[in-house]
Amino acid sequence: MAPDNVHAITPRTATELSGPTFAQTVAEERNLVSGKNGQAIGSLMRLKVRVLDEDARPQAGSLIEIWQANAAGKYQHPQDQRDAPIDTNFRSWGRGLVDANGEVDFITIRPGAYPVPNSGGWWRPPHIHLSAYGSTFSSRMITQLYFPGDPLNELDGIFQGIPDPLARERLVLKPDVDSGIPEVALGFCFDLVLRGRSQTPLEN
Ligand SMILES: [Fe+2]
Repeated sequence: MAPDNVHAITPRTATELSGPTFAQTVAEERNLVSGKNGQAIGSLMRLKVRVLDEDARPQAGSLIEIWQANAAGKYQHPQDQRDAPIDTNFRSWGRGLVDANGEVDFITIRPGAYPVPNSGGWWRPPHIHLSAYGSTFSSRMITQLYFPGDPLNELDGIFQGIPDPLARERLVLKPDVDSGIPEVALGFCFDLVLRGRSQTPLEN
């Protein structure tokens, strides 16, 4: 009879390792603010994401995707039926590949808050959704990133749904001068930690 852990010890062979990498197949879209008719409305920011393992070693090769509302809190998606302006110069999603330093950056705007339908007055705080794929599509993490000091963070059922305050803190963007563009864009950085005690909490 096969041992119970037979799957755990199956080695990764050429079959698993020889497929195309994201770098070979994915077209990056890291600028969300340059539309056909000009620049998106809102406070420009550059978001730098670092992907780290449990020992803070940079992890190259991940595919990072972000999506967010525009400055008016409106998603460019058919399911967002709220009467709020669409910004045709804003791309509501981005996609980038993590480089050899474990980093990828995006130019975007600070998103607006938006009301949750039929919730009795709950507004989501400004946030950016983030998805990370590992070296294969079999591993994916999804979470949400928040802005430091936003008063709506305290009232948000999703953010506050993470009971550990230190874990919540790991989802808050850090202002970072080096990530910004002087006189053009605020800089924020975010460390995505894949494993271990400092692992980034997940949020759908
Ligand atoms: Fe959202």
